[in-house]
Parts: sequence; C-alpha cells; structure tokens
Amino acid sequence: MGYAVAVDGPAGAGKSTIAKLVAKNMDLTYIDTGAMYRGIGIFIRDAGVDPDDEEAVSKAVSGITMDIRYQDGVQHVFVDGRDVTERLREEETGRLASRVSRYPAVRSRLVALQRQMAESGNVIMDGRDIGTVVLPGAQLKIYLTASVQTRARRRWKELLEKGEPADIAEIQADIEKRDNQDMHREVSPLKKADDAVVLDTSDMTIEQVVNRIEGLARIRRKNPKVVLAQTAGFCFGVQRAVKTVYDETKGSGPLYTYGEIIHNESVVDDLQKHGVTVLDTPDDVRKAEKGTVVIRSHGVSKDVYDDLQNAGFRIVDATCPFVLKIHQIAREVTSGDGELVIVGDRTHPEVEGICGWCRKPATVIDTKEEADSLIFPENTDVTIVSQTTFNLQKFEEIVEIIRAKGYNTNVCNTICSATEERQTEARRIAATVDAMIVIGGKKSSNTRKLYEICKRECPETYLIQTFADLNLISLAKADSIGITAGASTPNTIIEEVLHNV
Ligand code: DC
Repeated sequence: MGYAVAVDGPAGAGKSTIAKLVAKNMDLTYIDTGAMYRGIGIFIRDAGVDPDDEEAVSKAVSGITMDIRYQDGVQHVFVDGRDVTERLREEETGRLASRVSRYPAVRSRLVALQRQMAESGNVIMDGRDIGTVVLPGAQLKIYLTASVQTRARRRWKELLEKGEPADIAEIQADIEKRDNQDMHREVSPLKKADDAVVLDTSDMTIEQVVNRIEGLARIRRKNPKVVLAQTAGFCFGVQRAVKTVYDETKGSGPLYTYGEIIHNESVVDDLQKHGVTVLDTPDDVRKAEKGTVVIRSHGVSKDVYDDLQNAGFRIVDATCPFVLKIHQIAREVTSGDGELVIVGDRTHPEVEGICGWCRKPATVIDTKEEADSLIFPENTDVTIVSQTTFNLQKFEEIVEIIRAKGYNTNVCNTICSATEERQTEARRIAATVDAMIVIGGKKSSNTRKLYEICKRECPETYLIQTFADLNLISLAKADSIGITAGASTPNTIIEEVLHNV
C-alpha cells in the first residue's frame, strides 16, 4: 500500500467534496467507493433484480465486471463495460446502493477492488468502512460527520441549485433512514475506526474542513519527530486545587470557587456542570447563598479571606504552598522598615493576592524598564520576590538591575521549582526543533511566558488552547515538533495534540 487517507462518515457529511479538494492539493488519487455501490445499484435496477432478494443480488453481481477509470481527473464507473457515471447521483441510485451494500457478496467484490486500487498509488478514499475494513493500515483516518439537519439542508440546497426543488423534511427522513441502514447492517456497518480523527463539520466551512484534513494528512505523510516535554501540564499546586474542588462536589450544599479554579475553560466548564459556581467579586460573595468556597492555587488577599469568613462561608484553602510562602514573606517584610518589590504581573490574581497580605504598599514591577526607574532612598533594605510563574531569566535580569543600584538587597527567588523546570525544558526543546507548540488557556500567565521563551528559541512557535486552534498546514512543514503546556493545561488536551501530530 502507498500513502492512504481513509474518510468515513454518514451520507451528506461532505466526504466527497472535501476528499476531492484534498486529493487535488496533495496530488492523491481520489476514490469514491460510494460510487461503486451506486454502480451496483444501477446494475440491479436495470437487470430487474429485486434488491431485497439477497440470493438474486449475489448471483447477479458474481458475474459482472466493474471498472474505475479516470477521465480528466473525474472518476468514471463502468459496470459490465457500460459507463454509468451520469446516473450515479440520482436519489433512487443512492437508495438502492444503501440496500444492496448490506450483502456480503457485494461487499467482498468491491472491497477487493478498492484494496487493489489503493495498492497502486497514493490515495484518499471515502466511504463507510474504509478505515475499519478496506484500509485498516491507512496513515490517516477521518470520521467526518454533521448533524442530520445540516446534512439535509446541504442536500436540499444542492438540489435547488440544480433546479430540482425538493422537500427538506423528506430529504431529512431519507437521510435518517439511510444512516440507520448503513450503521446497523450486519456486515461492515458504518462506524468510527478506533484511531480515526472525528470532525463534526456542522459549523465549519468547506475551506476549514479541507485545511484541517489536509494539514493532518501532510503531517502524517511527513511523520515528523515529536518531542513532548516531560514537565508539560498540571503542576502539583494546580492538580491539588482541581482535585480539592472535585472532592468537595461529593459533599452537600452550595459550592463555589473564588475566581476560576484554573485558567482553563474546559476544566471550568466541567466543574460548572458539577454544580460549582465561580464567585468573582465581593458583590458576588454578598449575594451568594452560604456554602463552601474553595480558594484556588493563586491564593487571595487577606481582605477576601476575612470577608468570606465573616460572611459565614466555609473556606477550603487550596492556595499553592509556594504562594503561601510569598504571602508570609510579604507580611513580614512590610511589617518592618524595608521595601518589598514584587516582580510579576500586577493584574494577575496571584500578585493581587500577594499585595493583599502586605501591611504597607509594595512595588510591583514587570519589566527591565520599570526596574531601571525604581528609586528608593540610599541604604534602603529592599526584598525582592517574584510571582511563582515568572520567567526565570527575566527575573534574574531585573534583579541585576536593582542590585546595581546599591541598596541592601535581599533576593528571594520564589519562582516555583515546577515553573523553573518547565521553562528550562521548554527552552531546551524549542532550541532543537523546527516548530514548537505551547498549549494553555488564554488567561494563563505561565503559558504566555512559556510561549515567549519558546518563541525566542524557535520562531515557528504556536500558542494554542486546544488542538482545534492549530494551523496544521503550516505546522506540516516541520520535520521536528516540540510540545509543552502550561501548569493549568489538562492532560486530555495535551494528549489530543500529541496523538494528532
Ligand atoms: O457515499 P454514498 O452516498 O455515495 O454511498 C452510497 C451508499 O453506498 C451508502 O448509503 C452506503 C454504501 N456504501 C457502503 O456501504 N460502503 C462504502 N464504503 C461506501 C458506500
């Protein structure tokens, strides 16, 4: 077998439209196996054989010849030497094809022919059983689907454009009947191969679907070397916080998190389905029915903590121990004469929380420019801490600038070890690959920093939330691909990306 892409799915999902375009873009031979079953349908009809008589159909097809030839790139079907291509798309032909395709004698003849065709070149083949039966060794398997309403609407429009107006409800009923027949027949029913990529095209344009499949097909053909960072994904603090909330869902009474538990939409959505409500503001706290509040790994300010307690909520504190340590330093330093400098993003909840434990205002800086313009009286005791997920290299550069000013500096590198290890590994991998993928939520600060670090080493770095965001066509140019993920990225998302590239 050469290179093969298998596309399966129900009637009207767009298989042939998409497969033809991918074939053209990638110089593959497109094989429409549905047309072959349709050819048998035409033959049976012309020969006056009852399509429900298995024996008669099997006998009739045992002697016929079927030939597929390409004329100007178009697949023509010849049954017993007759070109039946013109009649393939008729509604009645489709119905008959579905009925006769359930017979083992019909299938074994066509499957053998289809395998033969795949052996002689690089193909994209569409049908119902390509990934499961005809070409189980295909390099890429796609299961293309769409809602029955969408498929009916597409077919209705197609007929309208051809000047054959039809009743949409009838079309939908017909599609449902065919789905049922194709999915529930005994021999090779339509089903997704275990290793197929599922694409629901209901809300996708043709161009989007082609890009997706072509991108995947190009990546599989190239077979790049893929390196997954061992440090990718949930850190200990995040894992603990998420587990804490799931554990609490087993209890009774209203359950809240103060802010989203982690910066990841899929986890937050799932928790919402488990009845967890997010409280965002003091006003939310005031209005909420009393219950349990889980404080997330970022931590909160002392005021928020006190407000929750005074309002009568039960608090379950899942603040990361690395963050708690910074709260302690912040409290101690700001109780004395010295100054506290927090290196981090002042709008990030972790930094807001740290500021909220200070007895007097601390200075928050994020850039080397801000470090440059920092001024304290001579001989001031300056303690520097960092946001746990800050970029280590940038932190060290900022520290150097402040040190050079001659204050009595005390540096507490509070970047957590998981962040440090993750960044170091990401930098190392990014420096050796053609393309780097960084996976994480839009609001995740540590993911953004990972992206910056990787981008510096590898210009072809992609920042994505889920696999669906990946520009596969451009990624397919890479011979080697690295993957890392932020501390709040669940394993399921990482695995989906890894599996597909
Ligand atoms: O994809 P299509 O509508 O042209 O297919 C017509 C019928 O042929 C379909 O209802 C089921 C059958 N078929 C099949 O059983 N196996 C295939 N590989 C392709 C089509």
